[in-house]
Amino acid sequence: MKYTLLPALLSLGGAYAITPNNIISPASISGSLSALKYTNVGGSGSYNQVTNMIQGAWPSCTANPSCITSPKQVSGPLAPFDEEMTAVLRGPMTLHNIAVYQPSNSSAATWKRTSSWQQGSAPDNLVFMNNKGGGASGEWDTCGGNSQSYSNGDFTDAAASPNADTYSANLPGTQEVNIVTGTSCADVPCDGFARGTASHGWSGSKAFIFEFDMPSDGSSNPPAIWLLNQQVVNAAQYGCNCRGMGGSGGCGELDVFEVLPTNLQQGITEIYSFKGATGGGDGNFWARPTSGTVTYMAILDVQTDSISIQRLTEWDFTQTQITRSIVDGYLTVPSMTVNFGSQNSRRAEKRSWMHRRHLH
Ligand SMILES: *[C@@H]1O[C@H](CO)[C@@H](O)[C@H](O)[C@H]1NC(C)=O
Repeated sequence: MKYTLLPALLSLGGAYAITPNNIISPASISGSLSALKYTNVGGSGSYNQVTNMIQGAWPSCTANPSCITSPKQVSGPLAPFDEEMTAVLRGPMTLHNIAVYQPSNSSAATWKRTSSWQQGSAPDNLVFMNNKGGGASGEWDTCGGNSQSYSNGDFTDAAASPNADTYSANLPGTQEVNIVTGTSCADVPCDGFARGTASHGWSGSKAFIFEFDMPSDGSSNPPAIWLLNQQVVNAAQYGCNCRGMGGSGGCGELDVFEVLPTNLQQGITEIYSFKGATGGGDGNFWARPTSGTVTYMAILDVQTDSISIQRLTEWDFTQTQITRSIVDGYLTVPSMTVNFGSQNSRRAEKRSWMHRRHLH
């Protein structure tokens, strides 16, 4: 990626926004979305933090309640999306590159690459996990089910240790994998309840960049990329957790690119927190890359209290840092804008989301 050296007239936080030159031309993608920005993301409120999971006695869950929660108050720009987050990917998908960039604080002049992975190479401060705990790694209990586990190389089972295998590019349909940092909750305590192989996500401001394609696997399995508060997977992604789904609770979920079973050629974005839920709305969708690779970036920025998701023409994954002014450039490209202020629906379920259910 190279920069256009003409600073945009817009000035943010005292720094000039530099217009990036890898923005996809909306005209080239025939009516599908090229960029969407959520504004006024943060809020003051609370979600039901999981503080304990009671195991119960085998063979049936005998503890009631077994999922112990306590309201956690949060507030401020981006809250609760400023907390640690993980990215979840569901196949069918071919994965080429992933990178995460973060500033050391919300006003730092550079965002450094804190994690990365390239197909066929060893990940850097990035661990692929899945929810198959209880066998090769992680744990299983009667009330809580499977914890997280380290993913094996073809994303189909658990492995005994982090990144034990070289990762194949192919994430099969119905399989899910999520990425976390290389720091486990056993080494550095995590917020909320954590068990098994639970690990830290990425906190504060962060930019996730994914290079992938979503080919059909000959069935109707819908691929997706979404972000969750790290605490969701550290307890149980499909069970006892703080997700709340925008209705009551809601520790933060961002659907970056979710293909729905009702239209396998389109991907949507939605945001959920204790404030409710909103999204791109009807008729505004990403084009599913069934052939050919695409690059998407999701920037979650504390300083501007906004989240921007955009399709790029390319990304140079070897870049070890980017400047705040180029981040500002991405945050100010022409986008569909969705205000996540105070007028959100408090929906329990608007659509029948595949990933709300346990697929295995
Ligand atoms: C933010 O980070 C930058 C770069 O590391 C540093 O120079 C600056 O002092 C930090 N600011 C605050 C408020 O901590």
